[in-house]
This record gives sequence, C-alpha cells and structure tokens, in this order.
Amino acid sequence: MNQPRIVVLTGAGISAESGVRTFRDNGGLWEEHRVEDVATPDAWAFDPEMVWRFYQARRRQLLEVQPNGAHLALALLQKNMKQFTLITQNVDDLHERGGSSDVIHMHGELRTLRCEASQRSEVRMQASDLTDDVSLCSCCANPVRMRPDIVWFGEIPMHMEAILNAVETCEVFIVVGSSGHVYPAAGLVDQANNAGARTILVNLEAPVNASAFDEILLGPAGELLPQLVDRLISDND
Ligand code: APR
Repeated sequence: MNQPRIVVLTGAGISAESGVRTFRDNGGLWEEHRVEDVATPDAWAFDPEMVWRFYQARRRQLLEVQPNGAHLALALLQKNMKQFTLITQNVDDLHERGGSSDVIHMHGELRTLRCEASQRSEVRMQASDLTDDVSLCSCCANPVRMRPDIVWFGEIPMHMEAILNAVETCEVFIVVGSSGHVYPAAGLVDQANNAGARTILVNLEAPVNASAFDEILLGPAGELLPQLVDRLISDND
C-alpha cells in the first residue's frame, strides 16, 4: 500500500505532561513574564541579564524532564512511515530524546547557544554553560557573548523553506498541543488544507484555529496520540 506523506507540527502542549510549562494555559509562562521583557530582541538589548536568567532556568530544566508517551508515539510513527516530517515550535529536546530524528525546530532550541558575531550555533549543555554567568563563544578569535538560540517575537522562524515544502506536499497534517495563536505556525494548517491534506488536531482544548481541522481529538496528548499513531500505522501497513 502507498503510505501517505505525513507532517506533524507540535507545540508546547506535547511537553506539558513531561512537566514543561506551556505559554498560554493557566499557570503558563506568559502569566508570570511579559513577552516584551524576555522574548524579544529589544528585551535582549535592554536587559540581557534578565533574558539570560529566564532562558538559563529553562535550559537547566531540560536536565530534569523526560519525554512522555506522546513524544514516543511520534518516534514510532516516524519509524513506520517512509515519508515523515516532524516540525516543532518547541525549544526543548524531548522529541530527540524520545527517539525522533531530523526534527525541525522552527523556534530554535534551548540546548544550543548562538554566537552573536558569527551566528554559529553550538550545543552548550555542560554544567559550566548552565550558570547565570555569560557564555562566550568558541568560534571567534576574541570570544564574544552568546545569545539564546531562540526565535524571539519579531524574528523570522527558522527553516521556513523546508517547512513549506513539506506542508505543501503532505497528505496528512497533524497538529499536537498548540493554541494556534502564533504565526506562521498557526497558519500551516491552512496551507495543508490548500494542498488537499487530511488535517487532524490533538489538543487538550479547542484552539483558536480549531475550525480549520477535519478531525479534532480533544484530551491529553500522552493518551490520545499513541492511539492515533496506532491507527495510522495499522491503516497504512
Ligand atoms: N495535551 C495536549 N494539549 C495540551 C496539553 C496536553 N497534555 N496541555 C496543554 N495543551 C494545549 C493547550 O490547551 C494549548 O492549546 O497546548 C496548547 C499550548 O498552547 P501555547 O501555550 O500557546 O503553546 P504553543 O501553541 O506551542 O505556543 C506557540 O508561542 O510563546 C510562543 O514561541 C512560543 O513556540 C511558542 C509559541
């Protein structure tokens, strides 16, 4: 049987059951912090220490959390599908640690830092990289400050060409754990619909763009996604 080309887009909700806070739920990160204070280029220019402390705390948290059943289910789906692309808005590394490969991180990654001069990113997760002290790059003759390797509000998401290529040619498009507020990620379902794909949503509550989906599965991703993955695998054996 011809397997469908599957694209999955994940958001903060997929990591919620691992203990990573989402942004816009009750108790989410944006309840405690103003986006303008910690997640914009202006914030970094105005108060780099505050921005640095915010991201260093989140980087340290990576050492304490584990992938959940939803991350593992997507790794299983990838192993069973010939044409599969995983796009995530998440900056954690739980997809990779759950067994997924070639994950496209459109909003950057916590485990890497970026040299402000060369723009080169490198994995920096040693204990000495995780303190509140400034990290200096290893690529420049005169080492310069590194910034979080995160796409802030007002910056262009990463890998957009690869993302659009995958979405515009997919046959099944699945979104997991995203509130549908942040573009361009929230608009990818429209591109998938235009491409004629079947669009499926797995989310705790109906997001703002719920009406764009053909099938909506409401509940915790750790429970619902393994069931959906089993169904997709057995439908396409
Ligand atoms: N299972 C499934 N969905 C869940 C779960 C769960 N266990 N827990 C929460 N959710 C859902 C919530 O109902 C919500 O709709 O996940 C969604 C999380 O939404 P947001 O916090 O807005 O996260 P996300 O959509 O990924 O945010 C997009 O915003 O601040 C930026 O750059 C940040 O990448 C992020 C972007």
